Amino acid sequence: MRQGAIWGAVLVAGFAAAVYFTRREPPGALAPPPPGPARGQLAPSSSREADLAHGKALFERSCMICHGPEGRGTQVGPGLVNAIYAPSHHADEAFHLAVQRGVKAHHWRFGDMPPVPDVPPDQVKLITAYVRDLQKKAGLF
Ligand code: HEC
Repeated sequence: MRQGAIWGAVLVAGFAAAVYFTRREPPGALAPPPPGPARGQLAPSSSREADLAHGKALFERSCMICHGPEGRGTQVGPGLVNAIYAPSHHADEAFHLAVQRGVKAHHWRFGDMPPVPDVPPDQVKLITAYVRDLQKKAGLF
Protein backbone atom coordinates (compact mmCIF):
# COMPACT_ATOMS: atom_id res chain seq x y z
CA MET A 1 0.00 0.00 0.00
CA ARG A 2 2.69 2.45 1.05
CA GLN A 3 4.87 1.43 -1.86
CA GLY A 4 1.92 1.74 -4.20
CA ALA A 5 1.41 5.33 -3.06
CA ILE A 6 5.07 6.17 -3.70
CA TRP A 7 4.96 4.67 -7.18
CA GLY A 8 1.78 6.56 -7.79
CA ALA A 9 3.46 9.79 -6.76
CA VAL A 10 6.48 9.04 -8.98
CA LEU A 11 4.16 8.33 -11.85
CA VAL A 12 2.22 11.55 -11.35
CA ALA A 13 5.46 13.56 -11.05
CA GLY A 14 6.86 11.90 -14.17
CA PHE A 15 3.71 12.65 -16.10
CA ALA A 16 3.73 16.26 -14.92
CA ALA A 17 7.38 16.61 -15.93
CA ALA A 18 6.66 15.10 -19.34
CA VAL A 19 3.79 17.50 -19.86
CA TYR A 20 5.94 20.39 -18.63
CA PHE A 21 8.89 19.68 -20.92
CA THR A 22 6.90 18.87 -24.04
CA ARG A 23 4.54 21.78 -23.59
CA ARG A 24 4.45 23.95 -26.72
CA GLU A 25 4.28 27.68 -26.54
CA PRO A 26 1.49 29.08 -28.69
CA PRO A 27 2.89 29.86 -32.14
CA GLY A 28 4.73 33.15 -32.25
CA ALA A 29 4.93 33.56 -28.49
CA LEU A 30 8.71 33.27 -28.49
CA ALA A 31 9.27 34.81 -31.94
CA PRO A 32 11.74 37.70 -31.91
CA PRO A 33 10.20 41.16 -32.32
CA PRO A 34 9.99 42.31 -35.95
CA PRO A 35 13.07 44.21 -37.10
CA GLY A 36 13.05 47.99 -37.40
CA PRO A 37 11.43 50.64 -35.27
CA ALA A 38 8.11 49.99 -33.63
CA ARG A 39 5.09 51.27 -35.47
CA GLY A 40 4.48 54.94 -34.84
CA GLN A 41 8.03 55.77 -33.85
CA LEU A 42 10.42 57.42 -36.33
CA ALA A 43 7.91 58.96 -38.69
CA PRO A 44 9.00 58.86 -42.38
CA SER A 45 7.39 55.85 -43.97
CA SER A 46 9.80 55.76 -46.89
CA SER A 47 13.36 56.83 -47.50
CA ARG A 48 12.11 59.04 -50.36
CA GLU A 49 10.09 61.11 -47.91
CA ALA A 50 13.08 61.29 -45.61
CA ASP A 51 15.33 62.38 -48.50
CA LEU A 52 12.88 65.08 -49.55
CA ALA A 53 12.70 66.39 -46.00
CA HIS A 54 16.49 66.38 -45.83
CA GLY A 55 16.75 68.16 -49.22
CA LYS A 56 14.27 70.78 -48.03
CA ALA A 57 16.29 71.44 -44.88
CA LEU A 58 19.51 71.77 -46.91
CA PHE A 59 17.80 74.05 -49.43
CA GLU A 60 16.49 76.23 -46.63
CA ARG A 61 19.96 76.44 -45.09
CA SER A 62 21.96 77.26 -48.23
CA CYS A 63 19.70 78.39 -51.09
CA MET A 64 16.49 79.87 -49.71
CA ILE A 65 18.05 83.21 -48.88
CA CYS A 66 18.15 83.92 -52.64
CA HIS A 67 15.81 81.37 -54.21
CA GLY A 68 13.05 81.87 -51.66
CA PRO A 69 10.86 79.59 -49.55
CA GLU A 70 9.88 76.51 -51.59
CA GLY A 71 12.01 77.88 -54.44
CA ARG A 72 9.58 80.69 -55.20
CA GLY A 73 12.24 83.37 -55.62
CA THR A 74 13.18 86.59 -53.79
CA GLN A 75 14.36 90.08 -54.63
CA VAL A 76 17.87 88.74 -55.07
CA GLY A 77 17.36 85.44 -56.86
CA PRO A 78 15.02 83.69 -59.28
CA GLY A 79 12.44 81.11 -58.32
CA LEU A 80 13.64 77.63 -59.24
CA VAL A 81 10.06 76.44 -59.56
CA ASN A 82 9.99 77.91 -63.03
CA ALA A 83 9.65 76.25 -66.42
CA ILE A 84 13.14 77.35 -67.44
CA TYR A 85 14.62 75.27 -64.59
CA ALA A 86 12.56 72.15 -65.38
CA PRO A 87 14.66 69.07 -66.21
CA SER A 88 14.33 69.53 -69.97
CA HIS A 89 16.02 72.96 -69.74
CA HIS A 90 18.34 72.55 -66.79
CA ALA A 91 19.37 68.98 -66.12
CA ASP A 92 20.42 67.97 -62.62
CA GLU A 93 24.00 68.62 -63.66
CA ALA A 94 23.19 72.35 -63.85
CA PHE A 95 22.49 72.29 -60.12
CA HIS A 96 25.86 70.70 -59.38
CA LEU A 97 27.67 73.20 -61.61
CA ALA A 98 25.77 76.15 -60.16
CA VAL A 99 26.73 75.20 -56.62
CA GLN A 100 30.34 74.33 -57.50
CA ARG A 101 31.20 77.19 -59.83
CA GLY A 102 28.47 79.74 -59.31
CA VAL A 103 26.39 81.15 -62.16
CA LYS A 104 27.11 84.16 -64.33
CA ALA A 105 23.91 86.18 -64.63
CA HIS A 106 22.38 85.23 -67.94
CA HIS A 107 18.66 84.63 -67.52
CA TRP A 108 17.83 87.47 -65.15
CA ARG A 109 19.03 90.73 -63.69
CA PHE A 110 19.68 89.51 -60.19
CA GLY A 111 23.42 89.43 -60.73
CA ASP A 112 25.72 86.41 -60.47
CA MET A 113 25.19 83.48 -58.15
CA PRO A 114 28.36 82.92 -56.13
CA PRO A 115 29.60 79.33 -55.64
CA VAL A 116 28.32 77.69 -52.46
CA PRO A 117 31.42 75.76 -51.36
CA ASP A 118 30.05 74.25 -48.15
CA VAL A 119 27.46 72.13 -49.99
CA PRO A 120 29.02 68.85 -51.21
CA PRO A 121 27.61 66.90 -54.20
CA ASP A 122 25.63 64.41 -52.11
CA GLN A 123 23.78 67.34 -50.54
CA VAL A 124 23.26 69.01 -53.94
CA LYS A 125 21.65 65.75 -55.04
CA LEU A 126 19.16 65.90 -52.16
CA ILE A 127 18.47 69.60 -52.79
CA THR A 128 17.91 68.92 -56.50
CA ALA A 129 15.48 66.07 -55.72
CA TYR A 130 13.57 68.44 -53.43
CA VAL A 131 13.41 71.16 -56.13
CA ARG A 132 12.34 68.57 -58.74
CA ASP A 133 9.56 67.49 -56.41
CA LEU A 134 8.36 71.10 -56.09
CA GLN A 135 8.55 71.53 -59.87
CA LYS A 136 6.61 68.35 -60.43
CA LYS A 137 3.92 69.33 -57.93
CA ALA A 138 3.66 72.68 -59.77
CA GLY A 139 2.99 70.74 -62.97
CA LEU A 140 6.18 71.86 -64.71
CA PHE A 141 6.94 68.35 -65.91
C1 HEC B 1 23.50 84.71 -53.12
C2 HEC B 1 22.31 84.29 -53.77
C3 HEC B 1 22.19 82.84 -54.21
C4 HEC B 1 22.35 81.72 -53.45
C5 HEC B 1 22.73 81.61 -51.96
C6 HEC B 1 22.06 80.60 -54.30
N1 HEC B 1 21.76 81.03 -55.56
FE1 HEC B 1 21.31 79.86 -57.17
N2 HEC B 1 21.18 81.54 -58.35
C7 HEC B 1 21.26 82.82 -57.90
C8 HEC B 1 21.01 83.72 -59.02
C9 HEC B 1 20.99 85.23 -58.94
C10 HEC B 1 20.77 82.91 -60.15
C11 HEC B 1 20.40 83.35 -61.57
C12 HEC B 1 21.55 83.67 -62.47
C13 HEC B 1 21.01 84.03 -63.84
O1 HEC B 1 20.82 83.11 -64.63
O2 HEC B 1 20.75 85.21 -64.10
C14 HEC B 1 20.89 81.53 -59.69
C15 HEC B 1 20.75 80.43 -60.50
C16 HEC B 1 20.71 79.15 -60.07
C17 HEC B 1 20.52 78.01 -60.93
C18 HEC B 1 20.37 78.00 -62.44
C19 HEC B 1 21.72 77.70 -63.06
C20 HEC B 1 21.80 77.90 -64.55
O3 HEC B 1 22.50 77.10 -65.16
O4 HEC B 1 21.17 78.82 -65.09
C21 HEC B 1 20.52 76.92 -60.13
C22 HEC B 1 20.33 75.47 -60.55
C23 HEC B 1 20.73 77.38 -58.78
N3 HEC B 1 20.85 78.74 -58.77
C24 HEC B 1 20.79 76.55 -57.68
C25 HEC B 1 21.13 76.98 -56.41
C26 HEC B 1 21.26 76.09 -55.28
C27 HEC B 1 21.01 74.59 -55.33
C28 HEC B 1 21.62 76.85 -54.20
C29 HEC B 1 21.92 76.39 -52.79
C30 HEC B 1 22.94 75.38 -52.62
C31 HEC B 1 21.73 78.22 -54.68
N4 HEC B 1 21.40 78.25 -56.01
C32 HEC B 1 22.09 79.28 -53.88
C33 HEC B 1 21.54 83.23 -56.62
C34 HEC B 1 21.82 82.41 -55.55
